[in-house]
Amino acid sequence: MRPVRVRVPATSANLGPGFDAFGLALTLYDELTVTPGGSGVTVKVVGPGAGEVALDESHLVVRAIRAGLESLGAAVPGFTLRCENRIPHGRGLGSSSAAIVGGLAAAYGLTGTPLDRDKVVSLAHEIEGHPDNVAASALGGFTIAWTEGDTGRAIRLEPVAGLSAVAYIPDTRVLTKEARGLLPSAVPHEDAAANAGKAALLVAALTSRPELLLTATEDRLHQEYRESAMPESLALVHKLRGSGLPAIVSGAGPTVLVLGYPAGSPPAAPDGWSRYELGIDPVGVQVWSEEVR
Ligand SMILES: Nc1ncnc2c1ncn2[C@@H]1O[C@H](COP(=O)(O)OP(=O)(O)OP(=O)(O)O)[C@@H](O)[C@H]1O
Ligand SMILES: [Mg+2]
Repeated sequence: MRPVRVRVPATSANLGPGFDAFGLALTLYDELTVTPGGSGVTVKVVGPGAGEVALDESHLVVRAIRAGLESLGAAVPGFTLRCENRIPHGRGLGSSSAAIVGGLAAAYGLTGTPLDRDKVVSLAHEIEGHPDNVAASALGGFTIAWTEGDTGRAIRLEPVAGLSAVAYIPDTRVLTKEARGLLPSAVPHEDAAANAGKAALLVAALTSRPELLLTATEDRLHQEYRESAMPESLALVHKLRGSGLPAIVSGAGPTVLVLGYPAGSPPAAPDGWSRYELGIDPVGVQVWSEEVR
């Protein structure tokens, strides 16, 4: 077995009205190198997560590699995993999905199996629990995910040419689990109806009608309910939208994303926040077998 290298994109889920369904792959990447050998695992991490995440079998990428190998009927007793991370953790940019999709893709690479992206979506959904981020990490571009029974599925649509995103990333974290706990168990019918219409419109806006992005990114199902967990993010969304920019909470927050404008136009980040100008990743996770040196 040869070492494999994997590059997997950050993702933004929900995109306003597309709660738990829409995803967008971004040009911000984690890179993994997996070198088979020995019996146990050795994990090295640089970048986000270094010094925080477990470095044993419970590491999310290791768990995904093991799950991928099992689904392929293969066993690799030991390996060294090197993670060069750039996706911040707990910020709403899909770090957990990237870790899972990256680990599954590595399992395909290690066994020399051509990558089955639909299978990666369904396996990753089993581990992650919701399919929106894993879909965009696996397929690239703009994705719509759903579940059939317990199976996570997704399609990829081609984003309109020139689509870009500016991410405003605060220093604070919001764990997805915590943000989910703030959602009500029922919502007014008129809010649900409004979101269904806006989600449909957002498909058109993201694929061919970017001038409709501001109105198409209006959400009434999740963002405002989560305000207490990320008041500064909601304040920034309101301010940016008030100035005509299609701003949304990225995933479960607290990152704020502005869609659709050539990088450079949205304003500077508030003090203490980072501002990333990003493109849309077109292909999703990629895996290469390394030459043995
Ligand atoms: N590259 C990674 N390696 C190991 N563990 C990771 C990695 N990325 C994420 N995790 C685990 O997932 C947790 C973050 O997951 P969480 O779903 O809360 O945030 P997120 O995925 O960054 O954001 P969101 O799901 O809202 O887009 C981290 O605290 C860590 O335990
Ligand atoms: Mg996550």
